[in-house]
Amino acid sequence: MSQRLAVSTDQAAPLCCPEGLDPRRMPGHVAVIMDGNGRWAKARGLPRVMGHRAGVEALKSTLRHCSDWGVEALTAYAFSTENWSRPGDEVNFLMTLFESVLQRELQALEEEQVRIRFLGDLDALPVKLQSLIAEATQRTSTNSGIHFNVCTNYGGRRELVRASQRLAERVARGELQPSQIDENALAAELFTAGEPDPDLLIRTSGERRISNFLLWQLAYAEIHVTDLCWPDFDAQALQLALEDYQGRQRRFGGLQSIEPHALGS
Ligand code: FPP
Repeated sequence: MSQRLAVSTDQAAPLCCPEGLDPRRMPGHVAVIMDGNGRWAKARGLPRVMGHRAGVEALKSTLRHCSDWGVEALTAYAFSTENWSRPGDEVNFLMTLFESVLQRELQALEEEQVRIRFLGDLDALPVKLQSLIAEATQRTSTNSGIHFNVCTNYGGRRELVRASQRLAERVARGELQPSQIDENALAAELFTAGEPDPDLLIRTSGERRISNFLLWQLAYAEIHVTDLCWPDFDAQALQLALEDYQGRQRRFGGLQSIEPHALGS
């Protein structure tokens, strides 16, 4: 990939991104469905879990490039509520992988000012992983850099049910009138509360599905699908996805093109 950088002179725009990308029109929030780890491994005659190991490297590279190029939030689908149905060995491998990556990378995340959060039903995760998650979340909570959200034991439908239950509980306690429940009230009960909705969803391995990911939040996201398996998703692939995004006209149901993120508006 060309490493020549386009430097913005605009105070509100990020400092640099590759030539070919407009630094003033970067998506504020990118979401990724990291699919194809198993197929990547199978194509190389390796066990499926080696694909997940390679997938970690692709995720680290994507996080670094998003941060360097001015994306403010990256949300990755690491483990869905449906992934528990995989063979026990693969589930155990993934849990241990999350633990070892967190242990290994926490210091770098702190130094690079990344704010990491884990979104999902975390109570069902192994206790050791829960405590590593709590530590990483706490130690990076005041960091000023990119927001890195890792969806773990996450399901979009379950998130909406949970949000509805929490609103119903507030109504039952007399804190809220049913007529006060609007889109903002519901969004405030989602795991992503406080984070702007994703502007761009990237899905790898050619599948054209949302797979129960961020069902509410992706309402107006632009979708980019690449045939690459996730471990092969590199800086060039990210640049292509961002160029695809920058070529879209976003109208949010209206007639005029709107660029919500341009120039900090
Ligand atoms: C989907 O590929 C991938 C996953 C279910 C796991 C993704 C997890 C990582 C990349 C590790 C992330 C690590 C941290 C610490 C956040 P698949 O197995 O469904 O692939 P297939 O469709 O080819 O079988």
